[in-house]
Amino acid sequence: MERTRDQGVDYATMVLHLENQLNWLRKQGCTHLNLEEMPQAELHKLLEGVYRIVPEGQAAEASPPPQEPEGLKEQVRELSEQLGAEPQSPSAQPDDRPTPPSLNAPSTPAPPSTQTTTLEALQQTHHNCQRCALGKTRTHLVFGEGNAGARLLFLGEGPGADEDASGRPFVGRAGKLLSKMILSMGIDRPDVYITNVVKCRPPGNRNPEAEEVAQCFPILEQQIALINPALIITLGNVPTRALIPDIPGITKVRGKTLNYHGRTVLPTFHPAYLLRNRSAFELAWQDFRTAAQLAFSQ
Ligand code: URA
Repeated sequence: MERTRDQGVDYATMVLHLENQLNWLRKQGCTHLNLEEMPQAELHKLLEGVYRIVPEGQAAEASPPPQEPEGLKEQVRELSEQLGAEPQSPSAQPDDRPTPPSLNAPSTPAPPSTQTTTLEALQQTHHNCQRCALGKTRTHLVFGEGNAGARLLFLGEGPGADEDASGRPFVGRAGKLLSKMILSMGIDRPDVYITNVVKCRPPGNRNPEAEEVAQCFPILEQQIALINPALIITLGNVPTRALIPDIPGITKVRGKTLNYHGRTVLPTFHPAYLLRNRSAFELAWQDFRTAAQLAFSQ
C-alpha cells in the first residue's frame, strides 16, 4: 500500500489494486466483506479505513502478491499468443470499411418499445424475437451478461459460432482474450456487463446489416438505460458506429472519448482484431488503462 502511495500511482490504479486485494481477502475466507454490495466508488473510503486499521508491517505481510499492471500486461500478451495471435501481416488492417450510415438510425421505426424495469424482464420479452432474418438461423439469442449495475459496459458486434451455441457473449477465442484484458484492469468479468449490437449470429460471421442493427437497437438502448454504465467501451467499428454513425474508422477514434446521448463512449480494437495483429496490442492496452481511469474517476 505505501509503495503505491510513494510511487504516486493514480487514483484509479490504486482502487484497482485495492479491489484485487479485497478479492484476495475474500478468497481467503474473509466473507464479511461483501464486495457485490459495495459501489466501486466507495472503495477509496475503504482504502483510508484499511490504512487506519491495519498496522503498516502487518499490511505488508497480509498483502497478496501485488498485481502489477506491467505483469498483467505480460500475462495478457502471453495469452494472446497462446490463443494463436499471428504476427502482423502488412495487409491485416482493422476493419475500417465504411459501415452503412444508417446503422443506428432505424430505417423502419422500431416496434413500440415495451419499457421494462429489469434486464431479466427485457430478456424475457425478446427471447423469441423474430424481428429480423437472423432470428431464423440462430441457435440462441445472446442477450448479454454481467453485473446489472456495472460501471463498464463492453459492446461487441454480434455473436459468433461459440456464442450462438452457448447463448453467452464473448466465450470464444476473442472472448477469452477480452476476459483476460478485463482482469488486467483489476476487474472480474462478472463485474462488468458484456453485450453485442445484434443479439443473434450473422451467418458466416459477416457484419450485421443495417436493418438487423436497426431492429435490434431498441434492446440495446434499454439495456444501456437499465444498467446506466459510467462508460461504454465499444469493440471495433460496428459497435462504435452503431452508437455514433459519423465517425472515421476505429484506428482514428480508438482511445478517444466520444459522446452518446450524454454517455461516455471509449472505442478500442475488437479482441478478434488483436488476435490477428499483435502490434495493435500496445494501443489496446492503453485504451483499457484509460477505460479503468474513466470508469472509476466519475
Ligand atoms: N465477437 C463479438 O463481437 N461478440 C461476441 O459475442 C463474440 C465475438
